[in-house]
Amino acid sequence: MEWLLALVLLCLGAFAAVIFFGAPYLPTLGPQIQAAFALLELKPGQTLLELGCGDGKVLAAAAEAGYKAVGIELNPILALVAWARTRKYKGAVRVLWGNYWRMSWPKADGVFVFLLDSYMSKLDTRMRLYKKPLASVTFRIPNRTADAEKAGVFLYDYSFKRSLRRSS
Ligand SMILES: C[S@@+](CC[C@H](N)C(=O)[O-])C[C@H]1O[C@@H](n2cnc3c(N)ncnc32)[C@H](O)[C@@H]1O
Repeated sequence: MEWLLALVLLCLGAFAAVIFFGAPYLPTLGPQIQAAFALLELKPGQTLLELGCGDGKVLAAAAEAGYKAVGIELNPILALVAWARTRKYKGAVRVLWGNYWRMSWPKADGVFVFLLDSYMSKLDTRMRLYKKPLASVTFRIPNRTADAEKAGVFLYDYSFKRSLRRSS
């Protein structure tokens, strides 16, 4: 019986500890996922990077839409669930277990995130270096105007390609 209690405590710990590094687990709704894809304007075959991929719902939707996708997840239980859920999209989806603040991000064409207000400045700093479009569910980047908004998802184009397109 003790092993069961230890397992439950381990699981609870894995979910609770994440709040010290980013947002706790809360899945994005289907319409917001589609809004993010529309805003990012990825072409088939291009790669989406998801920071905190949870149970792999967004990664699976990306593969269904014809994109490649890489998800980074800190919670080992969720990383395992995401990996199992996306196993059928062989070659198109990768799940990395780790803390996205402490690793270099794999190459991608757009970033998806559902984070928390308190981490958005830190994300801004990383995105300025990464230079790709960012779709952020619910939360805005402080002191920066979103390039577009749809269904509660905000687009920030750190690649500046859109502003170039608009001005030409
Ligand atoms: C709000 S949930 C979003 C889940 C998924 N992206 C979705 O939209 O359905 C945030 C996820 O990020 C993970 N997370 C939080 N901080 C993290 C970090 N520093 N590195 C990797 N994953 C993190 C959490 O475990 C959780 O699964």
